Amino acid sequence: MLQKIPTGCKGLDEILEGGLTAGSISLIYGEAETAKTTLAMQCAVNCARKGFKALFVDCDGTFSARRLSQMASVDFEKIAELIILARPRDFREQTTLIDQLPNYVAKGFGLVVFDTITHLYRLAVAEKPEKTFEINRELNRQMAWLAQFAKTRKIVVLVASQVRSVFEDVYVSVEPVATRVLRFWADVIIAMKPTENAKIVMATVEKRPETGQPISFHLKIDEGGLSEYPVP
Ligand SMILES: Nc1ncnc2c1ncn2[C@@H]1O[C@H](COP(=O)(O)OP(=O)(O)O)[C@@H](O)[C@H]1O
Ligand SMILES: [Mg+2]
Repeated sequence: MLQKIPTGCKGLDEILEGGLTAGSISLIYGEAETAKTTLAMQCAVNCARKGFKALFVDCDGTFSARRLSQMASVDFEKIAELIILARPRDFREQTTLIDQLPNYVAKGFGLVVFDTITHLYRLAVAEKPEKTFEINRELNRQMAWLAQFAKTRKIVVLVASQVRSVFEDVYVSVEPVATRVLRFWADVIIAMKPTENAKIVMATVEKRPETGQPISFHLKIDEGGLSEYPVP
Protein backbone atom coordinates (compact mmCIF):
# COMPACT_ATOMS: atom_id res chain seq x y z
CA MET A 1 0.00 0.00 0.00
CA LEU A 2 1.27 3.46 -0.91
CA GLN A 3 1.57 5.74 2.11
CA LYS A 4 3.50 8.76 0.83
CA ILE A 5 4.55 10.28 -2.46
CA PRO A 6 7.71 12.34 -2.13
CA THR A 7 7.70 15.71 -3.86
CA GLY A 8 11.41 15.29 -4.52
CA CYS A 9 12.19 18.54 -2.70
CA LYS A 10 14.19 17.77 0.42
CA GLY A 11 12.86 20.25 2.97
CA LEU A 12 9.29 19.89 1.77
CA ASP A 13 9.46 16.12 2.11
CA GLU A 14 10.97 16.40 5.58
CA ILE A 15 8.26 18.72 6.84
CA LEU A 16 5.59 16.53 5.22
CA GLU A 17 7.16 13.46 6.83
CA GLY A 18 7.94 11.75 3.56
CA GLY A 19 5.73 13.62 1.13
CA LEU A 20 2.06 13.85 0.18
CA THR A 21 -0.13 11.53 2.23
CA ALA A 22 -2.43 8.87 0.85
CA GLY A 23 -6.03 9.29 2.00
CA SER A 24 -6.21 13.05 1.76
CA ILE A 25 -6.24 16.05 -0.54
CA SER A 26 -3.21 18.25 -1.05
CA LEU A 27 -3.54 21.69 -2.63
CA ILE A 28 -0.86 23.62 -4.52
CA TYR A 29 -1.81 27.16 -5.40
CA GLY A 30 -0.08 30.14 -6.89
CA GLU A 31 0.13 32.51 -9.81
CA ALA A 32 1.05 31.39 -13.34
CA GLU A 33 4.62 30.15 -13.83
CA THR A 34 5.23 29.29 -10.20
CA ALA A 35 5.95 25.62 -11.01
CA LYS A 36 2.60 24.14 -9.94
CA THR A 37 2.46 21.87 -12.98
CA THR A 38 6.13 20.99 -12.60
CA LEU A 39 5.58 19.97 -8.99
CA ALA A 40 2.45 17.99 -9.86
CA MET A 41 4.24 16.16 -12.68
CA GLN A 42 7.17 15.44 -10.41
CA CYS A 43 4.80 13.83 -7.89
CA ALA A 44 3.31 11.73 -10.70
CA VAL A 45 6.82 10.62 -11.70
CA ASN A 46 7.68 9.77 -8.09
CA CYS A 47 4.42 7.85 -7.75
CA ALA A 48 5.32 5.83 -10.86
CA ARG A 49 8.84 5.26 -9.53
CA LYS A 50 7.20 3.54 -6.56
CA GLY A 51 5.36 1.30 -9.02
CA PHE A 52 1.92 2.93 -8.71
CA LYS A 53 -0.18 4.41 -11.47
CA ALA A 54 -1.14 8.08 -11.55
CA LEU A 55 -4.12 9.70 -13.24
CA PHE A 56 -3.13 13.17 -14.41
CA VAL A 57 -6.19 15.28 -15.20
CA ASP A 58 -4.88 18.08 -17.38
CA CYS A 59 -7.71 20.62 -17.20
CA ASP A 60 -5.79 23.54 -18.67
CA GLY A 61 -3.95 21.66 -21.40
CA THR A 62 -0.41 22.30 -20.16
CA PHE A 63 0.82 18.75 -19.59
CA SER A 64 3.88 18.22 -21.77
CA ALA A 65 5.24 14.80 -22.71
CA ARG A 66 8.56 16.43 -23.48
CA ARG A 67 8.75 17.86 -19.97
CA LEU A 68 7.83 14.45 -18.59
CA SER A 69 10.60 12.77 -20.56
CA GLN A 70 13.13 15.25 -19.16
CA MET A 71 11.95 14.60 -15.62
CA ALA A 72 11.69 10.84 -15.93
CA SER A 73 15.02 10.69 -17.76
CA VAL A 74 16.27 7.12 -18.22
CA ASP A 75 13.07 5.57 -16.82
CA PHE A 76 10.86 7.47 -19.25
CA GLU A 77 9.18 4.51 -20.96
CA LYS A 78 8.48 2.67 -17.75
CA ILE A 79 7.17 5.83 -16.07
CA ALA A 80 5.11 7.06 -19.02
CA GLU A 81 3.22 3.76 -19.02
CA LEU A 82 2.09 4.37 -15.45
CA ILE A 83 0.89 7.94 -15.99
CA ILE A 84 -2.58 8.13 -17.51
CA LEU A 85 -3.64 11.44 -18.97
CA ALA A 86 -7.21 12.79 -19.05
CA ARG A 87 -8.25 16.04 -20.69
CA PRO A 88 -11.75 17.29 -19.83
CA ARG A 89 -12.76 20.13 -22.17
CA ASP A 90 -15.32 21.89 -20.02
CA PHE A 91 -16.60 21.96 -16.48
CA ARG A 92 -19.32 19.48 -17.36
CA GLU A 93 -16.73 16.97 -18.57
CA GLN A 94 -14.73 17.57 -15.39
CA THR A 95 -17.87 16.77 -13.38
CA THR A 96 -18.47 13.55 -15.31
CA LEU A 97 -14.86 12.51 -14.95
CA ILE A 98 -14.91 13.07 -11.20
CA ASP A 99 -18.16 11.15 -10.82
CA GLN A 100 -16.73 8.27 -12.85
CA LEU A 101 -13.35 8.18 -11.10
CA PRO A 102 -13.97 4.71 -9.65
CA ASN A 103 -14.10 3.42 -13.24
CA TYR A 104 -10.72 4.91 -14.10
CA VAL A 105 -8.88 4.61 -10.85
CA ALA A 106 -8.86 0.98 -9.97
CA LYS A 107 -6.22 -1.15 -8.28
CA GLY A 108 -2.62 -0.10 -8.57
CA PHE A 109 -3.26 3.65 -8.50
CA GLY A 110 -1.49 5.88 -6.02
CA LEU A 111 -2.29 9.38 -7.24
CA VAL A 112 -4.89 11.53 -8.94
CA VAL A 113 -3.83 15.03 -10.02
CA PHE A 114 -6.13 17.88 -11.09
CA ASP A 115 -4.14 20.58 -12.83
CA THR A 116 -5.77 23.04 -12.41
CA ILE A 117 -9.08 22.28 -10.79
CA THR A 118 -10.39 25.84 -11.15
CA HIS A 119 -9.58 26.47 -14.84
CA LEU A 120 -12.77 25.01 -16.35
CA TYR A 121 -14.74 26.19 -13.35
CA ARG A 122 -13.72 29.78 -14.13
CA LEU A 123 -14.65 29.41 -17.78
CA ALA A 124 -18.05 28.08 -16.72
CA VAL A 125 -18.66 31.06 -14.44
CA ALA A 126 -17.50 33.49 -17.12
CA GLU A 127 -19.88 31.93 -19.62
CA LYS A 128 -22.90 31.79 -17.31
CA PRO A 129 -22.47 34.31 -14.49
CA GLU A 130 -26.12 33.82 -13.53
CA LYS A 131 -25.24 30.22 -12.61
CA THR A 132 -22.41 31.18 -10.27
CA PHE A 133 -24.18 29.81 -7.22
CA GLU A 134 -24.78 26.38 -8.79
CA ILE A 135 -21.25 26.24 -10.20
CA ASN A 136 -19.73 27.05 -6.80
CA ARG A 137 -21.88 24.39 -5.20
CA GLU A 138 -20.71 21.91 -7.84
CA LEU A 139 -17.04 22.72 -7.17
CA ASN A 140 -17.66 22.10 -3.48
CA ARG A 141 -19.39 18.81 -4.25
CA GLN A 142 -16.44 17.71 -6.42
CA MET A 143 -13.99 18.45 -3.63
CA ALA A 144 -16.11 16.61 -1.06
CA TRP A 145 -16.31 13.59 -3.33
CA LEU A 146 -12.56 13.71 -4.01
CA ALA A 147 -11.86 13.84 -0.27
CA GLN A 148 -14.02 10.79 0.26
CA PHE A 149 -12.48 9.03 -2.72
CA ALA A 150 -8.94 9.69 -1.45
CA LYS A 151 -9.89 8.30 1.92
CA THR A 152 -11.69 5.15 0.84
CA ARG A 153 -9.12 4.28 -1.88
CA LYS A 154 -6.11 5.32 0.19
CA ILE A 155 -4.67 7.38 -2.63
CA VAL A 156 -3.14 10.82 -2.85
CA VAL A 157 -5.32 13.47 -4.47
CA LEU A 158 -3.37 16.54 -5.54
CA VAL A 159 -5.19 19.60 -6.82
CA ALA A 160 -3.51 22.65 -8.29
CA SER A 161 -5.18 26.03 -8.47
CA GLN A 162 -4.11 29.20 -10.18
CA VAL A 163 -4.68 32.46 -8.37
CA ARG A 164 -4.36 35.90 -9.84
CA SER A 165 -2.61 38.78 -8.24
CA VAL A 166 -4.80 41.22 -10.13
CA PHE A 167 -8.51 40.54 -10.01
CA GLU A 168 -10.44 40.81 -13.25
CA ASP A 169 -14.20 41.23 -13.78
CA VAL A 170 -15.86 37.92 -13.03
CA TYR A 171 -13.03 36.67 -10.83
CA VAL A 172 -13.66 39.35 -8.27
CA SER A 173 -16.65 37.43 -7.01
CA VAL A 174 -15.62 33.82 -7.64
CA GLU A 175 -11.94 33.73 -6.68
CA PRO A 176 -12.41 34.11 -2.91
CA VAL A 177 -15.22 31.54 -2.93
CA ALA A 178 -13.22 28.98 -4.90
CA THR A 179 -10.18 29.53 -2.70
CA ARG A 180 -12.24 29.02 0.44
CA VAL A 181 -13.75 25.81 -0.92
CA LEU A 182 -10.37 24.36 -1.91
CA ARG A 183 -8.71 25.31 1.37
CA PHE A 184 -11.53 23.78 3.36
CA TRP A 185 -11.09 20.33 1.80
CA ALA A 186 -7.27 20.24 1.67
CA ASP A 187 -5.24 18.64 4.45
CA VAL A 188 -2.00 19.96 3.01
CA ILE A 189 -1.74 23.44 1.47
CA ILE A 190 1.36 24.59 -0.38
CA ALA A 191 1.52 28.17 -1.65
CA MET A 192 3.87 28.86 -4.56
CA LYS A 193 5.28 32.34 -5.04
CA PRO A 194 7.61 33.80 -7.65
CA THR A 195 10.95 35.34 -6.69
CA GLU A 196 13.11 37.85 -8.59
CA ASN A 197 14.84 34.90 -10.21
CA ALA A 198 12.51 33.21 -12.74
CA LYS A 199 14.14 29.84 -12.03
CA ILE A 200 13.58 30.03 -8.26
CA VAL A 201 10.18 29.87 -6.56
CA MET A 202 9.21 29.92 -2.92
CA ALA A 203 6.99 27.13 -1.60
CA THR A 204 5.26 27.74 1.72
CA VAL A 205 3.63 24.88 3.56
CA GLU A 206 0.64 26.68 5.06
CA LYS A 207 -1.15 23.63 6.36
CA ARG A 208 0.01 20.08 7.09
CA PRO A 209 -1.21 17.08 9.07
CA GLU A 210 1.13 17.96 11.93
CA THR A 211 0.17 21.38 13.19
CA GLY A 212 2.85 24.04 13.13
CA GLN A 213 3.89 27.40 11.80
CA PRO A 214 4.03 27.91 8.03
CA ILE A 215 7.46 26.99 6.67
CA SER A 216 8.98 28.21 3.40
CA PHE A 217 11.51 26.68 1.04
CA HIS A 218 13.19 27.99 -2.06
CA LEU A 219 12.95 25.61 -4.99
CA LYS A 220 14.96 25.65 -8.17
CA ILE A 221 13.41 24.84 -11.56
CA ASP A 222 15.59 23.10 -14.10
CA GLU A 223 15.52 20.38 -16.78
CA GLY A 224 15.13 17.61 -14.25
CA GLY A 225 12.26 19.32 -12.41
CA LEU A 226 12.18 20.96 -9.00
CA SER A 227 14.66 20.62 -6.19
CA GLU A 228 15.45 22.45 -3.01
CA TYR A 229 17.55 25.54 -3.46
CA PRO A 230 19.36 26.14 -0.21
CA VAL A 231 19.48 29.83 0.58
CA PRO A 232 22.88 30.70 2.00
N1 LIG B 1 12.02 21.86 -19.52
C1 LIG B 1 12.13 22.92 -18.72
N2 LIG B 1 13.34 23.27 -18.25
C2 LIG B 1 13.46 24.32 -17.44
N3 LIG B 1 12.43 25.08 -17.04
C3 LIG B 1 11.19 24.78 -17.49
C4 LIG B 1 10.97 23.68 -18.34
N4 LIG B 1 9.65 23.62 -18.59
C5 LIG B 1 9.07 24.64 -17.92
N5 LIG B 1 9.99 25.35 -17.26
C6 LIG B 1 9.76 26.55 -16.44
O1 LIG B 1 9.13 26.19 -15.22
C7 LIG B 1 8.39 27.31 -14.74
C8 LIG B 1 7.13 26.84 -14.11
O2 LIG B 1 6.29 26.29 -15.07
P1 LIG B 1 4.96 25.53 -14.66
O3 LIG B 1 5.28 24.38 -13.77
O4 LIG B 1 4.21 25.22 -15.91
O5 LIG B 1 4.20 26.65 -13.79
P2 LIG B 1 2.64 26.78 -13.41
O6 LIG B 1 2.02 25.45 -13.59
O7 LIG B 1 2.67 27.27 -12.00
O8 LIG B 1 2.08 27.82 -14.33
C9 LIG B 1 8.19 28.24 -15.92
O9 LIG B 1 8.87 29.44 -15.67
C10 LIG B 1 8.79 27.50 -17.10
O10 LIG B 1 9.49 28.42 -17.93
MG1 LIG C 1 0.34 24.88 -14.70
